[in-house]
Amino acid sequence: MKYLLWICFLFIGKSHGYVRLTNLACESYDKTFVDFPECRLKVLGRGIIGANIHVKFLKLPINRMAVRFTVYRKLSGYHPFLFNVSEEFCRVLKHPNRLRVFYYFYTAFLPFSNLNHTCPYNADVFIRNCTLSDRMFAKVPLPKGIYKLTLEMDDGVVNWVSIINVYFEINVD
Ligand SMILES: *[C@@H]1O[C@H](CO)[C@@H](O)[C@H](O)[C@H]1NC(C)=O
Ligand SMILES: *[C@@H]1O[C@H](CO)[C@@H](O)[C@H](O)[C@H]1NC(C)=O
Ligand SMILES: *[C@@H]1O[C@H](CO)[C@@H](O)[C@H](O)[C@H]1NC(C)=O
Repeated sequence: MKYLLWICFLFIGKSHGYVRLTNLACESYDKTFVDFPECRLKVLGRGIIGANIHVKFLKLPINRMAVRFTVYRKLSGYHPFLFNVSEEFCRVLKHPNRLRVFYYFYTAFLPFSNLNHTCPYNADVFIRNCTLSDRMFAKVPLPKGIYKLTLEMDDGVVNWVSIINVYFEINVD
């Protein structure tokens, strides 16, 4: 499921709701490559929860990095739901395509990050005060429910070295 086109037709009538972050967890399997000095949710205001992540890279620069983006929905336990895509991050930045799922989400998170340039990356990555809104999911067919979104990163060679787990809830007013 890499392309979004059909979704626009399917969900034109989607009603408004809210999207709320409920938990966040980051894990590094190789702390000689990447670490997370910060990975937490913070209350920014009444009912507003923001995510803060500091991704520390220990082997700079980054010229190549595979990422895997997966969405899970909770039924009895979390099950993969609709999206499970792998991309090469530097290539996505170099050849943007708004119809591809990963790039769509990248642009949604861009305003909260310092990921606004192409490779190479020579410094740590920060996500600050990142809030979710139903606008972010306007083109994505996620019905009311409890979700987990994971972003895995590799070391530029072959090994998956870290995972960021974002837990959120979609409800309707
Ligand atoms: C994040 O939110 C906190 C609390 O509202 C605020 O003090 C801080 O300046 C914000 N940081 C950024 C980078 O926007
Ligand atoms: C996602 O796809 C990859 C490769 O295509 C596969 O190895 C992995 O198990 C899948 N993940 C889930 C949660 O289904
Ligand atoms: C990226 O964001 C920073 C800080 O907001 C800004 O100073 C810089 O000009 C931006 N770079 C690009 C290529 O947009």
